Amino acid sequence: MLSDSQGDVMNRFKGRDFISLKDYTREELYFYFHTAEHMKSQTKADVFVSALSGRTLAMVFQKPSLRTRASFDIGMHQLGGHALYLGPDEIQLGKREAIRDVASVLDRYADGIMARVFAHDDILELATHARVPVINGLSDLLHPCQALADYLTMFERFGSLEDLRLAYIGDGNNVCHSLLYGARIFGMSMRIATPKGYAPDNTILEENEEAGLDVMLTNDPGEAARKADVVYTDSWVSMGQEKDQERREKDFSGFTIDTSLLEGADPNHVVMHCLPAHRGKEITNEVIDGPHSIVFDQAENRLHAQKAVLALNLR
Ligand code: CP
Ligand code: NVA
Repeated sequence: MLSDSQGDVMNRFKGRDFISLKDYTREELYFYFHTAEHMKSQTKADVFVSALSGRTLAMVFQKPSLRTRASFDIGMHQLGGHALYLGPDEIQLGKREAIRDVASVLDRYADGIMARVFAHDDILELATHARVPVINGLSDLLHPCQALADYLTMFERFGSLEDLRLAYIGDGNNVCHSLLYGARIFGMSMRIATPKGYAPDNTILEENEEAGLDVMLTNDPGEAARKADVVYTDSWVSMGQEKDQERREKDFSGFTIDTSLLEGADPNHVVMHCLPAHRGKEITNEVIDGPHSIVFDQAENRLHAQKAVLALNLR
């Protein structure tokens, strides 16, 4: 049975989009965690198995995916619902027909829309025109589903998020932006090391700094990693940037997470990566397969965290 106050919090989620962590309070994000943890601890015969019985999630993908596609599809199945995959060649978002028309059609069939897009405005446009919740499965600007699973993983590991020191080393990209919002909401600090020209979006930085985030930018990975509880990295070449691969790999030389870089981190640090990883580029085999790595716990938690979002927002 839910207590009255739990019931009140639950009612806040129904019908809401999940576009950015910044749209949620700390209390609401913890409610996702507790729901996810509960689901993770249950067997398949649990109460949540029928939470989305008869419901459908339409999944619109403009880019490739392993984790996002598989975890949403399997998550819907485990909740008693169904997921429909719509790939880039089928929908051709904004090319074959207007994004607002895609939204207006899909919301007549489905109970929720999850979309992975290039331009962040495309997610916003889908959300404006769809009457059902829209979930951001990654845009060029943000990756909130990843960050939700990442903070759940840190919470499991450390028992509390407040005052943890997060070092992000690499490209100031969509994953870094969503981590910035989360770090501010959860009261953590963030040290970000990027090569010159690859810093995170200035508006997002300023927004979070003004809202109280303790954040420092540097071009020195060692400085960022010093005393860190969490050392995080992502690909140097995000989806859609493949033509710049050679230049980027040159620019990011010296930003590989290897064992010598981690010597300055806290002895109990963990290493995180959203995956897919480019072994030998942003992270060495020794580190990703080493004792501090929790990258596959993160990948697993995509399933549990998103099941919480689906069960609460699509109700
Ligand atoms: N981390 C992540 O979103 O993985 P995919 O691109 O495989 O979905
Ligand atoms: N920054 C990466 C994340 C992949 C999950 C990208 O956008 O390709």
